[in-house]
Amino acid sequence: MDRRSETISKISAKLTNSNPILTPLSDIVTFSDLFCGIGGFHYAANQLGLKCVFACDVDQACREQYKHNFGIEPASDIKLVRAEDVPDHDVLFAGFPCQPFSIIGDRKGLNDRRGTLYHEILRIVNVKKPKALVLENVRQFATNSNGRALNAVLVSLCDLGYSCQWKVLNALDFGLPQKRERVIMVGLRRPGVMELFEWPKPLQDYKPLADLLEKNPARKHFASERIQKKRLSRHTPKTSPAIWHENKGGNVSSYPFSCALRANASHNYLLVDGKRRLTPREQLRLQGFPESFEVIGSDSQIRKQVGNAVPIPMIKSVVEGVLSAHSQIKRRNRVTSTLSSRRVHERDSSVHL
Ligand SMILES: C[S@@+](CC[C@H](N)C(=O)[O-])C[C@H]1O[C@@H](n2cnc3c(N)ncnc32)[C@H](O)[C@@H]1O
Repeated sequence: MDRRSETISKISAKLTNSNPILTPLSDIVTFSDLFCGIGGFHYAANQLGLKCVFACDVDQACREQYKHNFGIEPASDIKLVRAEDVPDHDVLFAGFPCQPFSIIGDRKGLNDRRGTLYHEILRIVNVKKPKALVLENVRQFATNSNGRALNAVLVSLCDLGYSCQWKVLNALDFGLPQKRERVIMVGLRRPGVMELFEWPKPLQDYKPLADLLEKNPARKHFASERIQKKRLSRHTPKTSPAIWHENKGGNVSSYPFSCALRANASHNYLLVDGKRRLTPREQLRLQGFPESFEVIGSDSQIRKQVGNAVPIPMIKSVVEGVLSAHSQIKRRNRVTSTLSSRRVHERDSSVHL
């Protein structure tokens, strides 16, 4: 091994011994939370030590919930936010409204006015130029209008100087007993970082449903005798506890995990053992919200809010990948600059000799 390679490997070994994610080498510190909802992105980023500098959501109940739990008052309609008024930040998060792209929506996609809310994201990105972006939408976003919606987002981010990747991830692969597939888009601005970014690897297992079901749910969560009987007449479960799922055609199936929680669908379509609806706390657990999250507002409000939220462990794993890529590029740059200054030092010493 020549002297240069030896020095690089010594320095790299020393640096690798530090935590690759929370190392001070990562200069990703702050984030903005657009379309913040009740803060799924916020929790994921907080758990990695990042600090929120701005949030916004048009829905008042979400803003109240967010303020109650994070002590931050989100701004309202993003269309009224001046990009210049958003504080500088390192990562921009946005789970932009999915109604126009969702299977329970009308699939108008780009023709739907709400589908253009991503233009508001671009407007802020253009001015604030965060180092990284993590965007989220429903799985169908990837196929909507033959991929035109996804393509439009990625092309415009490339035009703004970001290298982009996207992938469909499933909450089931991140330890949660919920089948929830989402398109995640990652954009990185610093040259060379995307080459170091890795998507998280799926975990082998998810939490048993029994671990997150409440022991004595209130009576109000139970379906009527009529609904319970109707379900039982259509389905014989293989396992318990299980979440029974009734699809649009009236077919009932059951699994040791929940199908995706939704914001606006009838709350009777998912029943624990065919008998009762999930409680707000169980719904929050299915999305990975911590027990410390305090619920304010009605059951129907929280059901809508949780149905819109991002699965926290899934986003956390993606953000870990973003932080790790930034740490690696900084480490690499530091090794290079250490070597250059060492060369200067050696040259100076030889002058003195
Ligand atoms: C898919 S949800 C995002 C949920 C969030 N990621 C979470 O974990 O809770 C989309 C959010 O966008 C908000 N929204 C819709 N139109 C908006 C607008 N014009 N300005 C700001 N927020 C808006 C909705 O109220 C909703 O909470």
